[in-house]
Amino acid sequence: MNFDQVIDRNEYPALKLNKPLLAEHFGNDKALPFWVADMDFRAPDVVIDSLRKRVEHGIFGYEYKNDSYFNALNRWYKNRHQWSIDQDHIEFCPGVLNAVSILINQHSDTGDGVIIQPPVFFEFRMVIRSNNRKIIKNPLKLVNGKYQMDFEDLEEKAANPKTKIMIICNPHNPVGRVWTRAELAQAGEICRQHNVLVISDEIHGDIVYKPHHYTPFASISDELAQISATCLSPAKTFNIAGMIDAMTVIANVQHRERFHDFAHRYQINKTNVFASAAIEAAYSQGGEWLDELLTYLHANINFLQSYFHNNLPQIKLIEPEGTFLVWLDFKELGLDAKALEKFLTQKAQLALNSGYWFGREGAGYARMNIACPQSVLQEAVSRLTNAVHNYL
Ligand SMILES: Cc1ncc(COP(=O)(O)O)c(C=O)c1O
Repeated sequence: MNFDQVIDRNEYPALKLNKPLLAEHFGNDKALPFWVADMDFRAPDVVIDSLRKRVEHGIFGYEYKNDSYFNALNRWYKNRHQWSIDQDHIEFCPGVLNAVSILINQHSDTGDGVIIQPPVFFEFRMVIRSNNRKIIKNPLKLVNGKYQMDFEDLEEKAANPKTKIMIICNPHNPVGRVWTRAELAQAGEICRQHNVLVISDEIHGDIVYKPHHYTPFASISDELAQISATCLSPAKTFNIAGMIDAMTVIANVQHRERFHDFAHRYQINKTNVFASAAIEAAYSQGGEWLDELLTYLHANINFLQSYFHNNLPQIKLIEPEGTFLVWLDFKELGLDAKALEKFLTQKAQLALNSGYWFGREGAGYARMNIACPQSVLQEAVSRLTNAVHNYL
């Protein structure tokens, strides 16, 4: 696979290139985009071949997810992540955020609290708010350049009887932590003691750099599986987010039945023939491609890190353990959150997600998507260098 190939995404309406959105979020519709969390790489050939074959068949009527689909999914998690998923525990819906929203709705009432760990994926906040629930922050702590969970604060927040849910982002977007089994077990135990349901968003679970190791939350113990719902998706792993298909694993039978009834009531669990063709191929034959991708992504991280070290030491990269998103520390530039945003979008002409999108804890930082050819990253750092030298 040639990850260096630059592919023009203007041919189709890529969200990251949407001019009105770029103008709205960045005040600059010409800014080079690193904000949307998808990749600029072609999906694995096995996925593209499978889709081609599916198109050639020519009949696109109603389908169901058959054994070979489930087997591919199960083998992937078993072989790659040592997690045997009981097929009966899997529910489907269009995307991970749909599942998060449904779970919030089903496991809490208006005004109840939902814990998140900022700086964290901004859509969690939107989903909690749109369900009229209260955001309860358990901010991460930055200790010697590494983000950690604050368990003491978590204990306090979880103990409030109005707190009903905790969303764990594993691996964590945007700070790139791949939570260890011990960290997840400790957070899970606190939630279990206080009857707090854990929604574990594991959409980035396959994008993990050695020696780090992704631990599916529900694989830790039966007790933790019973108090959790795990959101999975091949969207990030194989760059197929536009396929719109995701899975939720729910071991608790009552919780699962509620989710199932809801999905059935609103008919959101139908099967998309192209998504199925893509996902089955990806999970059964996409492992080698993913290994190559991880090598390329890691080289991109190394490139950025050494570039900043040698040329722009004011900018620090918080080394990610997983995800194709990097969290950049711009605090040494001495700009407040809005001034930093203006500097990045107007002077450097870059569309990065400002750190404050992820909560006020993110002020002074920005998130950058590094899943692109290295030549595109070179253009970005050259813009940054010019901006730092000419405008600060
Ligand atoms: C942590 C996390 N969860 C969920 C999503 C969105 O998932 P979906 O498109 O399946 O709703 C993203 C996309 O960036 C993400 O980073």
